[in-house]
Amino acid sequence: MNKVVVLDFGSQYTQLITRKIRELGIFSEIFPYNSSLSRLKREKPDAIILSGGPQSVYGKDAHSVSKELFEMGIPVLGICYGLQLMAYLLGGKVIPSQKREYGFASLKVLDRKGLLSGIKDGGQVWMSHGDRVERIPPGFIVSGKTSHCGVAVMEDQKRKFFGVQFHPEVVHTMQGKKFLSNFFFSILKLPPEWKMGSFIERKVEEIRKEVGKEKIICGLSGGVDSLVTSLLVQKAVQDNLICIYIDNGLLRKGQHQELMDEFKKKLALNVIGVDAAQQFLGELKGVVSPERKRKLIGKMFIRIFEEEAAKIGEVSFLAQGTIYPDVIESNPVQGPSDSIKSHHNVGGLPSRMRFKLIEPLRELFKDEVRALASELGVDRDFILQHPFPGPGLAVRIVGEITPERIRLLQEADVILVDEIKKAGIYQKLWQAFVVLLPVKSVGVMGDRRTYQSVVVIRLVQSVDGMTADWFPAEAKLLSRISNRIVNEVEGVNRIVYDITSKPPGTIEWE
Ligand code: XMP
Repeated sequence: MNKVVVLDFGSQYTQLITRKIRELGIFSEIFPYNSSLSRLKREKPDAIILSGGPQSVYGKDAHSVSKELFEMGIPVLGICYGLQLMAYLLGGKVIPSQKREYGFASLKVLDRKGLLSGIKDGGQVWMSHGDRVERIPPGFIVSGKTSHCGVAVMEDQKRKFFGVQFHPEVVHTMQGKKFLSNFFFSILKLPPEWKMGSFIERKVEEIRKEVGKEKIICGLSGGVDSLVTSLLVQKAVQDNLICIYIDNGLLRKGQHQELMDEFKKKLALNVIGVDAAQQFLGELKGVVSPERKRKLIGKMFIRIFEEEAAKIGEVSFLAQGTIYPDVIESNPVQGPSDSIKSHHNVGGLPSRMRFKLIEPLRELFKDEVRALASELGVDRDFILQHPFPGPGLAVRIVGEITPERIRLLQEADVILVDEIKKAGIYQKLWQAFVVLLPVKSVGVMGDRRTYQSVVVIRLVQSVDGMTADWFPAEAKLLSRISNRIVNEVEGVNRIVYDITSKPPGTIEWE
């Protein structure tokens, strides 16, 4: 299968470039800019993309690559800083611009024989740079310019080196996909081979070869990643895969049973359901510190998982739902390294459990995992569900966790999600949940004075969970939610709405 390596010089758009290339049907991966040439040679990429980055090629400690990169016979496309670096290393001249160009620019097409074939003259492109190329290196031509940038596109058709000063990967660039298609399909003539269907076949074959007749276990979390992992492994080894789904007593109302049915009956997974609610609640008795709650829950998961695994007998492999954003190598701006972040969805199993790891989703972005889930027959509602934290409702119950407080939160949560779905805004939100406070307030219901719990409604919008905005919900909707919770959940008499974004808040309360 063909492959493109994106060398990361620290641009905020590096992941986006990689995804756009994959959308075209070409597999691409991010490598740190200072990856060794021998490593690149081993990868045998069909092309190398030099990403953008915040630096100047003349800067002290500027991120660079060896000139030999251009002697490997591999086509190169430089984007923004990548274009400047290519110009600089191949004998051109880069100068600091009088005017920083940021935002839209209109692209004047000077030559349509290569990268700009079929590109509209005067089309809008997205710029974000200070320095610019003043003189192109020998062998290149300028095929596009803007009013502030004499070299917006340069090409050396013979050696297959190309550079664009703008960002074809962002939506603001008109015909952005066309630039990339021209490069991969018209110029390099790569066949689009990266498809989810072929991914399934390839992975299943790989897993089958590696696992053979041995037993393999996988912890199901209730999320998409661990489920898709299990379905792939199951395709390869059938019932030699044993899944473990632990009920910690801190899931949504009815969730454990519903998912067990889905896993077993609909998806025919070989899954052991473990009811460990009493054990978790016993450990958490009297604990109020958020960090302590999280640590205890993490430890308990491992202990119970180990106990269950031990019951199965001889197991050699562990499947984990690690995905690509978890393994992308370090951000070069903060100091590159060849080490890969280790990530443990099951909370970091102790090293004495000497499993060999199988991580079939390591190469995939979240939206690719969702596409795969769909191909594998997973319910749409399950695929599009909101994220749910590993420690579950424990981080939404401020103060002590008791069975009564869990019941109260579960019931309020059902009502909230129901109303959000009815209002048609579930998919607009990153998360919608209820938080139970360790506070009681005075109220009046009928003619009676009440003294009951306060809950918080939290609705947030976000792209990746790193930052988030509180959602300006309609008063009518909030009023419906409030009325229903107070009327239907015994023990709650007051509802408040959380209007804190992240930062300064976090999404969860603990
Ligand atoms: P915070 O509260 O840090 O949450 O703004 C960001 C996103 O991460 C989710 N979250 C977790 N997910 N295990 C998880 O798998 C956890 O321990 C955990 N804590 C927070 C949170 O729901 C939000 O989407």
